[in-house]
Amino acid sequence: VTPWNEYLSAKYKRSFAYHTVRNRLPVTVTQVIDHLSRSKEALVQTYGEGSREEIKQIIGYLSKLKNEMQTNKPLISLEANEVDASDWNNFLNTTEERLGRPLLWFADVWLHIECYLYRRIRESFALTKHLNQYDPFRHQKEEAFTGSLQAISVVGSYLLKLIESDAKIDTEQCVLQFLKLSLWGNRCDLSISGGKDISQVENPLDMISTLDELILVNDLQKVWSALNSTSSGPKIIDIIFDNSGYELFSDLCLAHLLVKLGLANKIRFHGKRVPWFISDVMEHDFHWLIQEMANQTRAPCLSKLSTMWKDFLSSGTWTYLTESFWTLPYSYDAMKQIDPELYNSFEGSKLLIFKGDLNYRKLVGDVFWPHTEKFSVALRGFEPAPLVTLRTIKADVVVGLQPGQAEKVAQKDTDWLVTGKYAVVSCLVK
Ligand code: F6P
Ligand code: MG
Repeated sequence: VTPWNEYLSAKYKRSFAYHTVRNRLPVTVTQVIDHLSRSKEALVQTYGEGSREEIKQIIGYLSKLKNEMQTNKPLISLEANEVDASDWNNFLNTTEERLGRPLLWFADVWLHIECYLYRRIRESFALTKHLNQYDPFRHQKEEAFTGSLQAISVVGSYLLKLIESDAKIDTEQCVLQFLKLSLWGNRCDLSISGGKDISQVENPLDMISTLDELILVNDLQKVWSALNSTSSGPKIIDIIFDNSGYELFSDLCLAHLLVKLGLANKIRFHGKRVPWFISDVMEHDFHWLIQEMANQTRAPCLSKLSTMWKDFLSSGTWTYLTESFWTLPYSYDAMKQIDPELYNSFEGSKLLIFKGDLNYRKLVGDVFWPHTEKFSVALRGFEPAPLVTLRTIKADVVVGLQPGQAEKVAQKDTDWLVTGKYAVVSCLVK
């Protein structure tokens, strides 16, 4: 039995955290190793003879990393000279001091351990010269986009029709619909679903209307009020991205609609600095997707949208930002102290939209809250601006449920916390 108010951790053998550290994360490392071995000759062709030795070096590093994890060795410091290395090492040192022992894979906070694993995968490339900027998950992200082109075209042509139509549209209904598309887009991360979900969906618009009962906390009306609120000054909205591919596309459609309807005049997108949780958006993925849309000659609506999105970017209506904080291990209550500049930059934002499971875990701190705990309590003081989380549930932490609600869902579905089938939309308005 896992105690309430403890952190999620692989020390609880029956938890999803344990399953992840024991089974899922080693598979992720193995997949990177296999990919490198398989693509060796192609990589050498692209990155030069000098990369041949480096591929060997990275494979060796990753095999050792996997072994450290599987044998519960201490977490070690980072060596490569990267902008966030000192922040990471500070984190490791201060936590070690507090615990009076080194951090261990199967003893400490799952959130920290899982972030550390991805940061160590990054380290294996950071220590090389030719492959320094190589993203070992890029091919998977790109394949996932291609696999979901059918769904993307359906949503794209629908959006285009809406924004080009002269008929008066029901603003509220449209915004809610695109919020839901973006919410359910989060089912498609590659670490859990492998992106399979959406490649099998022909029409996401039909799908989302049937999913409302799976939204266990539904603050969409609150979100609408926040978006629709009138205030003087610039109307800035921040979207803290999660995954590339279909999910990213659905987020950009939402962003387009918000601008088009005058609910925002500036949107700031926030992505990851390093390859993260397999499918998370990096700057290259963002621009790649928009460019790839332009190349879809068989779906002219996508190339049209692509041109419009490029215009948003060149006019500064949309901006893409990469802050290191998102790939540090901290939960968001620590942002004010660790990265005050980022925290303060949110002041005056109309709404922060946090996408996905990992952002949710960082919002509520990966704590075993009672499921009936209030979202506002679980945020532990993180309130830089009004905020909402659009998250499909893939980890055993959820708050904001009604008494008895968790038990009822669990009766129907024992895996309800980890499959991404259910969702929460929790909104905090100051
Ligand atoms: O919780 C399971 C998990 O794989 C975690 O590793 C991670 O928090 C999450 O799912 C990834 O999902 P998302 O892309 O929605 O953050
Ligand atoms: Mg993700």
